[in-house]
This record gives sequence, structure tokens and C-alpha cells, in this order.
Amino acid sequence: MTTKEKILVTGVAGFIGSKVAELLLKNGYSVVGVDNINNYYSPKLKFHRLNLLQNFCDFQFYNIDVENFVELEELFASNKFVSVINLAARAGVRASIENPYIYVSTNIVGTLNLLELMRKYSINKFVLASSSSVYAGEKVPFRENMRVDYPISQYAATKKSAELLSYTYHHLYAIDVSVLRFFTVFGPAGRPDMSYFQFIEKIRKGIPITIYGDGSQKRDFTYIEDIANGVLSSMKPLGYEIINLGGGRSPVSINYMIELIENTLHRKALIEYQPFNNADMSETGADISKAKVLLGWQPEIDFETGMNNTIKWHLQNESLLNSL
Ligand SMILES: NC(=O)c1ccc[n+]([C@@H]2O[C@H](COP(=O)([O-])OP(=O)(O)OC[C@H]3O[C@@H](n4cnc5c(N)ncnc54)[C@H](O)[C@@H]3O)[C@@H](O)[C@H]2O)c1
Repeated sequence: MTTKEKILVTGVAGFIGSKVAELLLKNGYSVVGVDNINNYYSPKLKFHRLNLLQNFCDFQFYNIDVENFVELEELFASNKFVSVINLAARAGVRASIENPYIYVSTNIVGTLNLLELMRKYSINKFVLASSSSVYAGEKVPFRENMRVDYPISQYAATKKSAELLSYTYHHLYAIDVSVLRFFTVFGPAGRPDMSYFQFIEKIRKGIPITIYGDGSQKRDFTYIEDIANGVLSSMKPLGYEIINLGGGRSPVSINYMIELIENTLHRKALIEYQPFNNADMSETGADISKAKVLLGWQPEIDFETGMNNTIKWHLQNESLLNSL
């Protein structure tokens, strides 16, 4: 009998973590998932995602905070992981301005805890979720070799810090690291703080939506299934590589996204305008040629198809959404 390779996924109750865990399980891995189920957004949605994962017999969940070294160490001591995929984070740009300390403790100290335990327990493969937000100030398309030394939010600063710490552990202890810079991930069961999620919910209920700026800002949206595939393909030995996982097509404006939602829901959005927030980027766009070469990865789902799937999920999960 062959034993399954065991992967530690942090942030497993999150939007991306739950999809990555599902894909790992479907691909024959055993998954140990960790999450502290914090209330940055409704834990009900996190439990909803976790419930779906509990259907797999090779899935185990632990309510652990990645900031808690002692509890994490118990997990490392009792499991032999082949890889650690770190998706746990405080992930909102605006919230990082209001509460920077929690961003530093989770995104930086949490990452350090995992790297230290990987060193101690000789685990060689680390996949780290980073973000397009580190590219602030650069011109699109964003390439991995651009200098990204000027983060414009505490969130971006913590993501860059986690990248740097991972490099240090690669240099000192030969831990193999894939740093993945995700670009505006969207899809079913997404994050309620993200604009597409709020727009779908509010437009369908006839509640006014808020646009910061004039709505011409653009994002390189990437569909959740493409991201999960990208994470799995990055689990191979690479040394230390930073890789963009982005839509890689023409970035989409907020105004276009609203129009698409309006047309699909057959409802007009009520729009309130607020000044552009200077922790926001006006445009993101990924050069994804490195992901194609190193991982053989490219996104398969276009924005319109992905948004249709997402809106369908919102319509099919009304009672869950109304309870959040
Ligand atoms: N969604 C995006 O568009 C996007 C873009 C770029 C980068 N990312 C990164 O991808 C990763 C996953 O993001 P997401 O969109 O799934 O966010 P999410 O908030 O849905 O998932 C993060 C999960 O981590 C958990 N978590 C937070 N702090 C924790 C802690 N201290 N200990 C244990 N668990 C903790 C949360 O409870 C949550 O379930 C994050 O690192 C995020 O920064 C996301």
C-alpha cells in the first residue's frame, strides 16, 4: 500500500485555501489544514467551505493560529509533511491601514513560524502566497524582476517581507520556495470584502454600491480554479522563484465589471462615488510568461465565464449569503 503525500495548507477555510485543499485531495494528496477562523469576514462562510472539505477522508482540520508557534510545532512533530502551502493571511488592503499590527503578526511572524518549523523538521518545499499589490508604482505589465521596494499599504509591505524571509530560509537552509504573486482572485464562495462580491450582492438586492474614484481603475482578474491549478503546479522543486499568477489578458475596469453584473442580473446598479483611496493601485496587469515557462501554467477561464459562474453561485446560495 502506498502512503499518500501529506501537505500542510494554512488558511484552509479561506477562499483560496479551501479550493487548493480540494484540488490536492482530488489529486490524491492527504491534506492537513489549519485556520484560526477569525472574524475579518463572516466565519459562517469559512465553515461552509470547511464543511465541503470534510467530505474527503484524507482531510484533517485544526483550528490553530499560525502566530502560535507551540501549537504549530505539535502539528509538525506529529505529521511528516512533504510541503507547506502558506495561504493564511490578513488579506485586505484597506483593513491593513486600520489595523497594521495584526497584518505584521499574521503575515510576517506567521510565515516565520512556518519557515522555522520547516527548518527544524527538515521539510523542503514551501509555497507562499504573495500579491500583485507589491508592484505598486511600477508600470504594467508587472514582471517578477521589477524592483518592488515601495509598498503603498501595510498589507503590501507584509507580503514583501514574507517573500524576503522565505528567501533567507532558502539561502541558509536550502528550503525550496515558490513565491506566487496572485492577481485579484475571484470566483464562487469568494471573499465578502472584495468588490466583485459586494457588487453582486448589493446589485441583486438593490442596495447602493460604493466606487472609490471614477471606476476606471483596472484589475487583472484571475479565476479561482486557475489559481488552484497554479498552486499545485508550483509544488515542484524550483530553488527560489517568484512567479506571477494573473489573468494575463487585458485587465478589466471596475466599470466594465459592474456592467457585466448588471447585464447578468438584469438590474441597474445604484452607485455612490467616494474619493480614490491612495492605498489602492490604479491598474494591475501580470506578465505571466514566467509561469508558462516554469510551471507550464496559463489561465483557462476568461473573465466573463468566471463572472457568470460566480454570479450563478451567488444566486444559488442566497440563504447562506443572507445569513452572513
Ligand atoms: N484573493 C485575492 O485576490 C488575493 C490576491 C493576492 C494575494 N492573496 C493572498 O492569498 C492568500 C489567501 O487569500 P484569500 O483571498 O483566500 O483570503 P481569505 O481571507 O479568504 O483566506 C485567508 C484565511 O487565512 C485565515 N487566517 C488569517 N489569519 C490567520 C492566522 N493568524 N492563523 C491561521 N489562519 C489565519 C483566515 O481565517 C482565512 O480563512 C492570502 O495570503 C492573501 O494575501 C489573495
